[in-house]
Formats: sequence, C-alpha cells, structure tokens
Amino acid sequence: MRVYHDGDADLSLIAGRQIAAIGYGNQGRAQALNLRDSGLEVVVGNRDDTYAVRAREDGFAVLPIAQAAEGAGVVMMFVPDEVTPAVFERQIAPHLAEGDVLVFASGYNVAFDLIVLPPFVDVVLVAPRMVGTGVRELYLAGRGFPSFVGVAQDHSGGARGIALALAKGIGSTRAGVVEVTFAQEAELDLFTEQCFGPAFGQVLMTAVHLLLEEGYPPEAVLLELYMSGELAYTLSKMAELGTIEQSALHSRTSQYGSMSRGMRFVLPELWAKMREGLEEIRSGKFAQEWAAEQAAGCPALERLREAARSLPLYRLEQELRQALSAQHE
Ligand code: NAI
Repeated sequence: MRVYHDGDADLSLIAGRQIAAIGYGNQGRAQALNLRDSGLEVVVGNRDDTYAVRAREDGFAVLPIAQAAEGAGVVMMFVPDEVTPAVFERQIAPHLAEGDVLVFASGYNVAFDLIVLPPFVDVVLVAPRMVGTGVRELYLAGRGFPSFVGVAQDHSGGARGIALALAKGIGSTRAGVVEVTFAQEAELDLFTEQCFGPAFGQVLMTAVHLLLEEGYPPEAVLLELYMSGELAYTLSKMAELGTIEQSALHSRTSQYGSMSRGMRFVLPELWAKMREGLEEIRSGKFAQEWAAEQAAGCPALERLREAARSLPLYRLEQELRQALSAQHE
C-alpha cells in the first residue's frame, strides 16, 4: 500500500511556472486559493459570469479562458465535466505549447475518450476526495484531505512529480495521496454514485417503508434511521477508526445484535447487480447514454428529479425538518 505525503512531493517542480485555473467554482476557487497561499503563481481563466466576479474579488487576475491557457505552463481544468470537452477543444487545445502540463480534477473525460489529448503535453490527474469548501477549510486549518493523483501522458518524463507537487500545493499531501489511473478514478467515482449509493438508498427506503407500514410514528422512524445525525456521526467514525473499531462505540447489545444477524443480509443478487452496474460504467455504456441525454436537453434527468420529489418520503422529510427547527423560530 503506497500513500504519498508532504516529504514525497517537491513544490519547486512547479514554482515559477504560471498556473491557470480554468473555472472558479467548487474546486476551482478552493484549489486556486490554496495554490496561491502555497506561494505559487496562479491566474484564473473564466468566462464573464459571477464566478469571474468572485475571482476578482479574491484578488486574482481573471482572463478569458483561451488567453489564460496561452500564457500558462500548467493548465488546470475546473469547469464541470459535462462542458469540459467543448471548452477544451475550442478554448484550451489550440493554445497549448510543447511541455505544458494539463491537469484534470476528475478522470471522466480522459477515461471515456471524450477529449483528444495533444501528444506534446503532460496530462495528470489531481482529484481531491473532498468537496471544494472542505478543500479550502481544511487547508486553512493546517490539515489536509486525501486525493487521487494519476498520469495519463508523461511527455516530460516527470509528470508524476508534477502531479504530486500540485497535490502538495493544494494541501493534500498533508493527509495522504494515492496513485490511480484516470480510468480507475472515473470508474470508482461512478460506481459509488451508481451502485453503492443507490443500493444504500434502497436499504434505507425499505427500512422506512417497512416501519411505517408497521405503524411506528413517522417522525420517530426518520430520526431513528438517519435524521438525528447519528448515522452521519457513525460514518465519520468509520472513516476515522475503521468499520470494525468503531463498533466499540456502540453498546454490547448493539454489537451482539448486529453481528449475530448480519449474515441474514448477505444477498448474492446484490453482488450481481453491483457487477452489472460496474460493467455498464467500464464499457463506456453509461458515458454514451449520459452524453446522449445531455445532447437532448436532459429530459430524463428532469423526469427523475420530479419523480423523487413526488415520493411520500419527500413530504415527510420536509415536515420533520420544519418540526425540528420550530423551536428555534
Ligand atoms: P462547478 O460547477 O463549480 O464549476 C463552475 C465553473 O465552471 C465556473 O467558473 C463557471 O464559470 C464555469 N463554467 C460552467 N459552465 C461553463 C461553460 N459552458 N463554459 C465555460 N465555463 C463554464 O464545477 P466543480 O464542481 O468545481 O467541478 C470542477 C471539476 O472538479 C470537475 O472535473 C469535477 O468532476 C471535479 N471535482 C469536483 C468536486 C466537487 O467538490 N464538486 C470534487 C472533486 C472533483
């Protein structure tokens, strides 16, 4: 098991090279600020919108995207994955020079061949396992957050070192950085979103509906299962201590009950469904379907959102949130 820390990364590999942060949203803002605070030279490339205003307020020089890419030696892509191929093709690719470094915060577009990479640049991945606000807050607190780094193209022969230097610049090597391929990052990310997350959601739904059907008060059911915040607390302890060690925080009744009954829920079908989901991701079938959905204006996404809002659980959650906050008003 290899985890890279501060001592494995050398900031001088990118010192003096101009970095262009293309996009100033969740990740763009957090990473641009962290890199600047680490002593690196950063400009922002952004279209003329409210994000550009924010970047100027934060003291950055903001240039049109093509101009920022042209002047920089390190170009970091922070626009949403859905718009990255078009932005890259029109505004970045024509302005890349031999020896430039192209950096992605997600493996998606490279992994699913949605971008044509010029052969004369390094292409690296620096993908925090943390939302943008966390990237900034943990940096300011002197702590870190894990990231995945990777190399898709090593034109200079030093691409891994550059990826690690960038990970250090954003504060990630303080916590630990793991190397993966672009495909692994993209597939793991999608697997979590499309298999683990929904399977977990269905387990929760089954529990909610079963308990409601058995006549337990809805507010008690939702609080017991997740809305008290105890589940979130337990998950954070799982991240800190591990799934087995955290069980010591629970009562002996809880430990005995959950371990002695656990095997009941080992369902072979779940394994098969997760494998099916993973295959859909790996084969590129999902990426093709999602590209077609976007080209059509996302009608299915809108229908799915509407269907989620019409679930009885949606109304129950709203009512409980209101009831819980009532005493503060
Ligand atoms: P975001 O949605 O916050 O990006 C907003 C930025 O994109 C703004 O600067 C906006 O001006 C620009 N933008 C939007 N549409 C544009 C267009 N059509 N043309 C030009 N610029 C446009 O993006 P976010 O969430 O920060 O994601 C950026 C990258 O970071 C993605 O690759 C994502 O997968 C990755 N990532 C995001 C995480 C998160 O915390 N949201 C976590 C880890 C990685």
